[in-house]
Amino acid sequence: MSEVMRSDPANADQARAWDGGEGAYWAEHADVFDKAMRAYHGAFFAAAGIGRGEAVLDIGCGTGETTRDAARIAVAGSAVGMDLSAAMLREARRRAAGEELDNVSFEQADVQVHPMPGEAFDVAISRTGTMFFADVAAAFRNVAAALRPGGRFVQLVWQEPARNEWFCAFRDSMAAGRTMPTPPPGAPGPFALADPGRIRAALAEAGFTGVVIRGQSAPMWFGADAGAAHRFLTGLLGWMLEGLDEEGRAGALHGLRRSLARHEQPDGVFYASAAWLVKAVRQT
Ligand SMILES: C[S@@+](CC[C@H](N)C(=O)[O-])C[C@H]1O[C@@H](n2cnc3c(N)ncnc32)[C@H](O)[C@@H]1O
Repeated sequence: MSEVMRSDPANADQARAWDGGEGAYWAEHADVFDKAMRAYHGAFFAAAGIGRGEAVLDIGCGTGETTRDAARIAVAGSAVGMDLSAAMLREARRRAAGEELDNVSFEQADVQVHPMPGEAFDVAISRTGTMFFADVAAAFRNVAAALRPGGRFVQLVWQEPARNEWFCAFRDSMAAGRTMPTPPPGAPGPFALADPGRIRAALAEAGFTGVVIRGQSAPMWFGADAGAAHRFLTGLLGWMLEGLDEEGRAGALHGLRRSLARHEQPDGVFYASAAWLVKAVRQT
């Protein structure tokens, strides 16, 4: 870790992954990850409704595409991105400097426990950055404390795996016939907030009202062609091949290649996905 970060011990696994190899891979492939999410961009920013003078907090901002876009809208305000990953934040800062944005900043922080400035933000946004907390309600309470009364909290989180073709296809290919362990419902990870009931309960416990949860589906892009997507995904998911013998590994990689080829279109490789767009307001 390059900055001193207060982190909840229960988030240690997430911190190790994001402030380690996983974050480094995301930092190196930021363009691919950003393009994968592009189809959600319009609905996400429409829901956030950022005003030109507003102060924006981006939770789990990663390499900061949404933080920088928020800063471009809040021209007379500011945007702060917080994340666990030093490597992703380095990339976020590099990009912000390259784009000559002077109203954007980034902090390495565990948003669940970070001592937030009180009532400092008009809106908190998060694009798939809120599903990794060990204690979601505690994290949402900390976000609430950072928001002005009446401030908005807008998140994009994944719906259940069965509604996310990309996840099922990659998992099944890499499993190569094995049954992969399913994490317990609600465990920190991409699908921790797939149950709208859990989101509502955590938001209510943290003092949010006016909760609106809208389903969104969009194609996700994984590369310009099947070859590029295969290189990207084997780098990202190579760890899933552990425990397979040589034949198993070859079978898994071949299965992944076949799936990607089936999803190749003239403008890239696309899989179906579904997310919840969640909007809530901090009690006044
Ligand atoms: C799936 S990535 C999304 C990154 C970014 N929002 C984007 O859309 O590209 C999830 C991000 O949440 C961050 N994260 C996970 N747990 C966190 C925590 N407790 N505090 C702050 N950031 C966290 C990770 O480091 C990672 O960058």
